Amino acid sequence: LVSRPAVARPAPRLPACARRGVKEAARCAAMSAEWREGGATVIEGADFIEVGPRTRGRPAVSHTYDDHRMAMCLSLAAFNPVAGGHAPLRILDPRCVAKTFPDYFEALFRVATAAPADVPVITIDGPTASGKGTLAAAVAAALGWQLLDSGALYRATGLAAQWDGLSPDDEAAVAQRAARLDLRFEGGRSWLRGHDVTEDLRLESTGLLASRVSAHPAVRSALHGLQLAFRRAPGLVADGRDMGTVVFPGAPLKVFLTASPAERAERRHKQLISKGISASIADLRADLEARDERDRSRSVAPLKPAEDALLLDNSQLGIDESVQQALAWWQPRGPFRG
Ligand code: DC
Repeated sequence: LVSRPAVARPAPRLPACARRGVKEAARCAAMSAEWREGGATVIEGADFIEVGPRTRGRPAVSHTYDDHRMAMCLSLAAFNPVAGGHAPLRILDPRCVAKTFPDYFEALFRVATAAPADVPVITIDGPTASGKGTLAAAVAAALGWQLLDSGALYRATGLAAQWDGLSPDDEAAVAQRAARLDLRFEGGRSWLRGHDVTEDLRLESTGLLASRVSAHPAVRSALHGLQLAFRRAPGLVADGRDMGTVVFPGAPLKVFLTASPAERAERRHKQLISKGISASIADLRADLEARDERDRSRSVAPLKPAEDALLLDNSQLGIDESVQQALAWWQPRGPFRG
């Protein structure tokens, strides 16, 4: 949650909690402590607590004591003005709202949007079959953030162009399909123009199509705004080829993931075999090296690490180790250090 611009309101008076016994008194004390920790001024009375605006402009972490009321009440601190503008607020164990309002935070994020510049972004770029999709999804899940698989947008554009009988080289017509891409991600499935394309998007042939259509500057700019729209609270993990260089150049953490071509071909081979598709490792390696070359040598947004990217060669690493590394890099860069 990120605080928004100041709105002058009278300080809230909470109900007469102290009168209602020991449990409520403990809740009052906890509430006061957490609001104070969040930088607010608190006056405790016999049967009320009065909460004034947050006066400290530093990030705050709020404990919720496994109490849904605490979580919901404290989340309102995100709307308080703080000295110097914005200060992020972290609500610990937010799932405790499940008791009475399981989708409280989703509902809150529907009615209150954070300014995109306040939403942190981690970019994970790299060549084909480097494992960036898997790493990005795992890091997003660990942090509870949004996920952008930008390759899926290029893949869907390639598919849409194919459905319409276009040549992938027809830049203007393909860019027009990209600008009107009717693509939805829901419950782990992907829908293009109302059709479930989850499996089609992952096909090798779709990847090759994507590699061709993504070389057109007009297609890339048609998809630019759509990618920026994924930057929503509480944060975004974006994976692709140019997330750190072009789309989110100000991201506070940029990871460039690599693995040797031999290792990547091996992984792609295992993936295909597990789906019952036979393939030769040598052919796969030749394909992915050709794709790398095309992605690297194109004139617009070529595949290359951002200057401030941290390189992670995961040839010898398991997925958990890569996730731990990315999270360890994030820790000192994020607002909630230590
Ligand atoms: O990551 P992927 O395999 O799903 O990407 C498919 C193709 O899309 C890839 O060959 C290059 C292109 N692409 C791109 O140019 N820029 C991105 N940000 C993501 C993908």
